[in-house]
Amino acid sequence: MKVLVVGKGGREHALVWKLSQSPRTTQVYCAPGNAGTAEEGINVPIESNDIDKLLRFAQKEHIALTVVGPEEPLALGIVDRFQQAGQRIFGPSKEAAQLEASKAFAKQLMRHADIPTAEFRLCDHPEHARHYIRSREHPLVVKADGLAAGKGVMVCSTREEALHAIERIMVREEFGRAAGRQVVIEKRLEGEDLSILAVVSGRTILPLPVSQDHKRAGDNDTGPNTGGMGAYCPAPLASESLQAEIEETVLVPTIHAMKRARKPFKGLLYTGIMVTPQGPRVLEYNCRFGDPEAQPLLMRLQTDLLDLLEAVVDERLEEYADGGVRWDPRPSVCVVMASKGYPGNYEKGHVITGLRRAAELPDVKVFHAGTRLDNGRVLTDGGRVLGVTALGDTLADAQRKVYEAVRCIEFPGAFYRTDIGARAKPHGPEGIAGSGSGESKPGETAEKQSTKEEASAETGPRSL
Ligand code: GLY
Repeated sequence: MKVLVVGKGGREHALVWKLSQSPRTTQVYCAPGNAGTAEEGINVPIESNDIDKLLRFAQKEHIALTVVGPEEPLALGIVDRFQQAGQRIFGPSKEAAQLEASKAFAKQLMRHADIPTAEFRLCDHPEHARHYIRSREHPLVVKADGLAAGKGVMVCSTREEALHAIERIMVREEFGRAAGRQVVIEKRLEGEDLSILAVVSGRTILPLPVSQDHKRAGDNDTGPNTGGMGAYCPAPLASESLQAEIEETVLVPTIHAMKRARKPFKGLLYTGIMVTPQGPRVLEYNCRFGDPEAQPLLMRLQTDLLDLLEAVVDERLEEYADGGVRWDPRPSVCVVMASKGYPGNYEKGHVITGLRRAAELPDVKVFHAGTRLDNGRVLTDGGRVLGVTALGDTLADAQRKVYEAVRCIEFPGAFYRTDIGARAKPHGPEGIAGSGSGESKPGETAEKQSTKEEASAETGPRSL
């Protein structure tokens, strides 16, 4: 089978890497890809939003399955176009992708379906927004309604910051006219966040092991928000009881509500959760794999990814109910190496060295993100440059291995967080929130974690 992956980030490199391991894959293409995807497959010089060209390529090359990485082509309707042309493609329809493409749609859906989320107000005029902000006492989050390349969510500590966010989104239209036509203003929640990724198809929801992202640019969660500076998987905070609660109060009602709205969801549903002392609350939905969450997650996947994604496309995900999906019991950690200045302005075109030495280390995989090839050299070509990922017998072991690999790699202006995975805590009295049983403890042996994950895998997917 020939497979096409759309996108050019670390997530797409992880998808290409995993899909190319399937015995049924003859060739994996990536459009437009990066230097890493060029090593595992063939890059195609088509931008991920150019749906016409992507479709022509898929038809000409007889692509058997297209897998969409980023949100923009999904929001533009790539899945609908491919399906109309008889091409098999993994991802939600344009209508279902509204869960990510419109924050206002997502919040209204949560309100109607009684899904726990922060209290909020929708405003379609800057003066209404300012009035609402002046009437609130607590810290706020201001979100542009539409897609804004991950920059449209502003976590505000003061009223002035929130008013400035309105200026940027609605008045200056920094993220475009359509994205800033409406804003969601919501109460800022305190707690730990978790990334809940689930594959969804027909009547089946199959949650994948939970990971935790690190959104801020600097150690100890300082500095500006980014697309994500690193992630680890599994997150011990996600005890079995917490996962069951999230499934029952969030995932199932979300999928039901989408069906009722005649926008049935098929593909990868990524729910950003804040675990607060009052329980889990939805921060946002995404309708694709997380980046960098995909890297540590796919590093642990032992089941054939092509089989799994095809089961979603063909609506036979319930087949995984009997053995479930197999995972490496060892935890994994991904550390993003970024260009100086990211998430603001940064330079491109610097030579990256040490990649080979890092890749030779055991249980390490260097996923490329913003890189490109130039006469055999690998150059920086984006803000997030690499997602160095390692498996370890324990989380501490994975951290040791990943940072050993990171230290092998150099490029001018490289920076990375040194504390990825340091916040891993159990849920319950010894952890940060709630009174759960706190089943998973940091430093717990791989064997123990393995037993638990097998137990939850046996439970299998959730049927609606
Ligand atoms: N890591 C956050 C995201 O993928 O949106």
